Amino acid sequence: MAYYTDIHSHILPGVDDGAKDMETTMAMIDMAYSQGVRVMIATPHYYPGHVRHPKEYLDDVFRETVSAVKEKYGDFTILPGNEVYYREEAVEKLQDRRIHTMADTLYVLLEFSPGVHYQVLVGAVRKCLETGYYPVLAHIERYQSLWKNEKNVRELVRMGAYMQINAENFSGGIFSAQRRWCLRLAKEGLVHFIGSDAHNTKERCPNIKQAADYLKEKLDKETFQKIMYDNPAKLLKGEYL
Ligand SMILES: [Fe+2]
Repeated sequence: MAYYTDIHSHILPGVDDGAKDMETTMAMIDMAYSQGVRVMIATPHYYPGHVRHPKEYLDDVFRETVSAVKEKYGDFTILPGNEVYYREEAVEKLQDRRIHTMADTLYVLLEFSPGVHYQVLVGAVRKCLETGYYPVLAHIERYQSLWKNEKNVRELVRMGAYMQINAENFSGGIFSAQRRWCLRLAKEGLVHFIGSDAHNTKERCPNIKQAADYLKEKLDKETFQKIMYDNPAKLLKGEYL
């Protein structure tokens, strides 16, 4: 049986607006586990200039979380990461290893404000690639400069960016314009990853399976296989997609 990897989660307790304590973390892990997730990258927010906790503290919390989870689920792996709110100086922090890449590879999860200008996205992708990182743009459905602008998405992908969409777009609720748009991008091969972006056990909970079930029905086999299995597997190995 194939298992899912969740590349975007706020699973670490008490470090950002995600899991508020270890109890919540474990409840979220229970949900993810029951959905067939076996690998999760912990991606706490990192805002350059607004660092709430020193990296050493975050790394301690990470280690505590890994051992708590291992004790309960021997076959569940949590890997280090950050969701980096992009500013140019973030790249230096990456190089100084003050920010985690995804699962200790060269992949980096980048976040932007919803109103980010397209040229800022282009600059961020270029800067990452020039310095040897593989940029993964988090929840691209949120950015106005990409919304219903397939040309812009396609251009960033052509440059070498990877696109992540949140699972909530494909799980539960009613069919919306946003879902239609996200599905269209996935069908066009312009979505590389689905992430839960889970923050808690309620409205922003682990929801990979619901999205996967939906996509299995809507996408051709090959595209589904890439998004849900092959791309995350390559990322974990640090290979190009
Ligand atoms: Fe996030």
